[in-house]
This record gives sequence, structure tokens and C-alpha cells, in this order.
Amino acid sequence: MNLNKKTIKDIDVNGKKVLVRVDFNVPIKDGVISNDNRIVAALPTINYLKNQGAKIVLFSHLGKVKEETDKVSKTLEPIALRLEEKLKTDVKFINETRGEKLETAINNMASGDIVMVENTRFEDIDGKKESSNDKELGKYWASLGDGIFVNDAFGTAHRTHASNVGIASNSDVSVAGLLIEKEIEFLDKSVNNPKRPLVAILGGSKVSDKILVIEKLLDVADYVLIGGGMRYTFMEAMGIDTKDSLVEIDKIETAKKLMEKAGDKLVLSNDNVVNNQFANEGDVKVVAADGIEDGYMALDIGPKSIELFDKYITDAKTVLWNGPMGVFEMSSFANGTKGVCESIARNKEAITIIGGGDSAAAAIDLGYAEDFTHISTGGGASLEFLEGKQLPGVVCLTDK
Ligand code: 3PG
Repeated sequence: MNLNKKTIKDIDVNGKKVLVRVDFNVPIKDGVISNDNRIVAALPTINYLKNQGAKIVLFSHLGKVKEETDKVSKTLEPIALRLEEKLKTDVKFINETRGEKLETAINNMASGDIVMVENTRFEDIDGKKESSNDKELGKYWASLGDGIFVNDAFGTAHRTHASNVGIASNSDVSVAGLLIEKEIEFLDKSVNNPKRPLVAILGGSKVSDKILVIEKLLDVADYVLIGGGMRYTFMEAMGIDTKDSLVEIDKIETAKKLMEKAGDKLVLSNDNVVNNQFANEGDVKVVAADGIEDGYMALDIGPKSIELFDKYITDAKTVLWNGPMGVFEMSSFANGTKGVCESIARNKEAITIIGGGDSAAAAIDLGYAEDFTHISTGGGASLEFLEGKQLPGVVCLTDK
């Protein structure tokens, strides 16, 4: 999927009310944002539009909103404040998703002003209007602007919702923002025209989430390295008893088939850090691939695996990584993910791309953000892109 779509560079926005979909679905608890990568990633588009004299109306969702009480924890207000800090300019937050207050605020904007609309999924409480791409809602939101829609929400591009596809289909022109442009450029190049060797690293807990992506990457990559919880299903497929480790029994056959197809391309981590409980403390130790004892579970890849993966990463010209190597949130099981980050940081020649909410957050939290060529803001969206699927939030934009 090439970005053969108009971008913000192709249109004149001066003095126009421009509706901009961003993905500010960031981790937040009790109003405290723990990772603002998605907000930072949207700044170039917002700054560009501001400098061009647009009146910017921002839309985003946050989490899932099912009932009235969810509104308290899912308001975008703290996100508007964070955006204000980052932009060093006022962001007028409107705690409504429709109605007079919102319309008046938008109609009173001057060039360069920014209004942020409340969480688009507040419209899901009464009949899933946002998430089902309700026709009236998309039309109403589009009517708030001057016919120009900018989609910069790459993280949401795999959804067909009123705030992306709905607004686009009711606008005169719908263009990609700078983030979507950059995301597609990097991801597209990495799978469709990579500098070789292309080494893909996959982790995360479940094989079932990643079957299609593993298949696709086995076609295009030179090597696919597997760590994270998903590797235990592969180990079981090899006849290794992984005891209390996470295994998807119904995917063992699939794992067997993938291994047969892959041959030497598929590289599995070969030792484990185990514990006798799912906790940071306990009887934490390193054991061989087939050395997990009764009552233990594997929670990270071990030092030999880090060394093994390092050899492939060192020789790579392109590295594509999705999914952590272990339960990195617990310090006892963060070394595998850290080790892969370090190998990537040492390889200054390669184009290195990390995607997937958890692994991107891990790389940032562990202090390696600067060592990647590109950190994708897409979880599900980047996986679907890598699987070769069309992303509705991109398809709906105006062709070049
Ligand atoms: C994401 O975090 O993957 C996107 O913001 C989409 O969110 P969703 O999975 O709740 O639709």
C-alpha cells in the first residue's frame, strides 16, 4: 500500500476551518498520562497547519466508552492540557461532541486557533454512533468545517469510524497528515522494498494475534526472530514441555505448519528466564530452552537468546520489530527487550522500525527512543498494514 493520497502539503488551508483526526488514545490513569508519544507524533501536522493559518479542530477517541460513568475517566481534558504544554499555545477544549457550545467555539475561531472536541467515543454510549460510522454523525462533524479533512490518526487507520471515514466521505477534500505519510513511508519500504538483510523480530503474548503477520514476514523477511510469550506455543510444537508458561493449545498445529514452511528463516529464542509465580519476585532463574521445571513459567528470553538475536540484528540492514521479548513491565523480565534494544542501538547502519503499542512503549520507557529510525504509533494499524491489508482510514483519503 503506497501513499498515493493527497497530503496537507497539497492543499491551501489559510483561514479555513480544518477538521483534523488525531490518535490521542494514550495510556492514562487518574488523569495522568504515562506515555505521550502519540501526542508528540502529531505535533508536526498541527504546527504545520497553524503556520499555514488554518483554524484547527481536533478529534480523537480515548479508550472504549460504554456507559455514562466511563466519561469521567475517558475525557480528553488532560490530553488537551498536555497538548497545550507541548505546543506552547492555547488549546480550547470543548467538553461536548456536538451542539451549540461546540459550534459557537468553532465559528469564533481565528486563523491559527486550536479547538479540541471531547472524546469521539462519547457518541458510542447511545448506539455506537462513532464506532459504527453512523451516517448522520459523520455528516454532522463534517459540517463543522470548511470541507477539508486531515487524517493524521495512523493508530486508528484500521477502523472505519465516523471520525475518520465518516468525516472523509462528507468532505470536499480529505488528506493525509505528516504522521500518516511518514508511517506509511517507513512501513511500506520496510516490507516492500527493504535494504537486506531484513530481520523481523516478533514478540508479545499470543501467536493468534500475529499468525497473518508471521506468514507475511516469512515471505518478505530474510529472518524472523521469535521471542515473547508466543514462542512457548512454538516450543510446544517442537515437543518441548513449557510447564506453566503461556501456551495457546489450539495454535500448536498452526505453529508446526509455520515452522515447516519457514525452515531456517524462523529463529526461536533458545533459553528462558523463569519464575515460580507471575511476579517480579520469586525464584527467578535462567534455564535452557527445554529446562523449565514443574511449577515454573518462562517470562523472558535468556542471555543466550539475546546473544543469538544480536548476531542477526548486527548484520541486518533493516530491522522491523513488533512485540516485547518478555514481561518487560517487571524489571526481572525486562532484560530480553532491553537486550534487543541495545543490539538495535549498536547497529547504526540499519533502518530500524518498531511498532505495536507495547514494544514501542517499552523502547521509550527503557530509554532507547532515539536509537530507532522510526517508532510507529500504530498497534493494530501497523500489524494490519504489515499483513498487507488496506487501511480504511487511508483508503478514504483523496487520491493524488
Ligand atoms: C489503538 O490504540 O490501537 C488505536 O488507538 C485504536 O484503538 P481501538 O483498538 O480502541 O480502536
